[in-house]
Amino acid sequence: MCGIVGYIGEQDATPIILNGLRRLEYRGYDSAGIAVLQDGKIELRREVGKLDRLVDLVRQQPLAGNLGIGHTRWATHGEPSARNAHPHVSASGEVVVVHNGIVENYLELREELTAEGTVFKSDTDTETIVHLVDRFLAVDGDLVQAVRHTLLRLRGAHGVVVFSTREPDKIIAARIGNAGGVVIGYGQGEMFVASDIPAILEHTRQVTFLESRQMAVVTRQGAVVQTLEGKPVQPTLHSVSWDPVAAEKGEYRHFMQKEIHEQVRSLTDTLAGRVDFKQGRVRLPQLNLDAQQARAIERIVITGCGTAAYAGMVGKVLIETLARLPVEVDIASEFRYRDPLVNERTVVLAISQSGETADTLAAMEEARRKGARLWSIVNAIGSQAMRLADGSISMQTGPEIGVASTKAFTAPIVDLYMLAILLGELRGTLSDAERRKRVKDLGRIPDLVGRCLDREAEVINVAQALKEMRSALYLGRGVNMPIAYEGALKLKEISYIHAEAYPAGEMKHGPIALVDRDLPVVAIATQDPWYEKMISQIEQVKARGGIVVAVATEGDERIAALADRVFWVPATPWLLSPVVTVLPLQMFAYHIAALRGLDVDQPRNLAKSVTVE
Ligand code: G6P
Repeated sequence: MCGIVGYIGEQDATPIILNGLRRLEYRGYDSAGIAVLQDGKIELRREVGKLDRLVDLVRQQPLAGNLGIGHTRWATHGEPSARNAHPHVSASGEVVVVHNGIVENYLELREELTAEGTVFKSDTDTETIVHLVDRFLAVDGDLVQAVRHTLLRLRGAHGVVVFSTREPDKIIAARIGNAGGVVIGYGQGEMFVASDIPAILEHTRQVTFLESRQMAVVTRQGAVVQTLEGKPVQPTLHSVSWDPVAAEKGEYRHFMQKEIHEQVRSLTDTLAGRVDFKQGRVRLPQLNLDAQQARAIERIVITGCGTAAYAGMVGKVLIETLARLPVEVDIASEFRYRDPLVNERTVVLAISQSGETADTLAAMEEARRKGARLWSIVNAIGSQAMRLADGSISMQTGPEIGVASTKAFTAPIVDLYMLAILLGELRGTLSDAERRKRVKDLGRIPDLVGRCLDREAEVINVAQALKEMRSALYLGRGVNMPIAYEGALKLKEISYIHAEAYPAGEMKHGPIALVDRDLPVVAIATQDPWYEKMISQIEQVKARGGIVVAVATEGDERIAALADRVFWVPATPWLLSPVVTVLPLQMFAYHIAALRGLDVDQPRNLAKSVTVE
């Protein structure tokens, strides 16, 4: 996961930045870099691979200065290389930037800048940012204004840190959406900037967090915070405990809430290095798959437990739709004992956050014994489910600490979507144009997710109103049917409220008998091919006096008129809609449990990693 560290003060910036990057190493990255203001000029060192290589380079070519920024990068646009690593310096050599996020309109910006004569030195989207700042700086000569104008041109979610030789007394940091936080640390005559607290924890406990659409002008003396529109903001100072685990929680009350909000970043990271937005292609080299092999696959069986299995159910729709390949989802504890019908033309794909779940591993072993090809999608790097497989896709979400899984649900959905595109291309079921469109849609995901998360206050209102409920029914269809299951699972796991999920079309075969005015029915009814069917199901609930809480597309007046409460989500390409529809349901479960004063991160009777049968 991309990491950012910045320093301004009286000490030597280099060791502070390199140590800070070291603290973020566990999140994963493929290249690293540092820029320091040295004798009025920007000095840059960048290396592909591990941080040790950058440290070696800095040893050979030392840097000296009291102001600098550093970055660890997961490649999104352009391969991992020193040239594509951050920081990026402008053509004038006067501005330097590090960035977390995806500039969704980077192609457009790149064309515009190229037409004006800018020569790009990397393949990254980030480089457009530094050239834009340079351009605005040349016009009105004010760094803060230049950064502001630049940020207003970017689409997507971003954490950005900039400095310039023109105004060598400051670092400017900004946050738009949730592409990772921006934290500012206060010292005596020195200040720190980072993407995450652990990076600066050894130097300070006093921190403030930037909210979305805020920017901070950081000098040795402190930070002046304002909105992107220029409205002053009084920063709230937080005192962070030295306990590194507690510190990780940052501005959030629980890990689960933090992890929900990390999804802009985790989804950006899971795309990292796998999507070529320019060519409209997906690459999953870990699977070692060519067209002949892809065509030889007869069937995919997705296996896993709990949340992982529900992600697999979404994957079934994605792969069947885009690659026209039959997919079954089999709960691992069932699969392992059923003498399953798999052979060498079957791919068994295991999904697991921990990579250590006993049932999932046993299912993998059973599949191996029967000669199936084994793939996995795993979060914990180096875990057994990763090692056992012939090919494994890493979720790249970073550690998940809350027992109820959140970011390790959306990441595998995006991975399965990429897999579906790849299989569709190799099997010839996706046209060139359609593939390009599907890949382009992927680039919108971080922003769409950020927009859902920005509506947390509305979710809290609904949670307040319903926190005493005794039971809930979740309904969904098609690609969002598994989201009903996942939403219900989240609620029961952490709030201990009984929740049941059904494919909405099955309601008439039983659960409709439960409907009365005490039973909230959560219905996922976004604009997908099942929308009309969901509307009629909602009408049936309303006709029986039920309370409907809908998840619906912004601006949908039919739902606004029908439902009692609505969680609005932005219009999203339907195949990717589960990634957004699940977000209000995660927040809803979280806030109900938090309002009930429960131990959200460690719910009773549950374990994060179930390594026994
Ligand atoms: C436990 C956890 C769930 C998780 C399931 C599978 O039950 O509490 O949150 O979904 O295990 O875990 P895995 O690590 O294999 O994804």
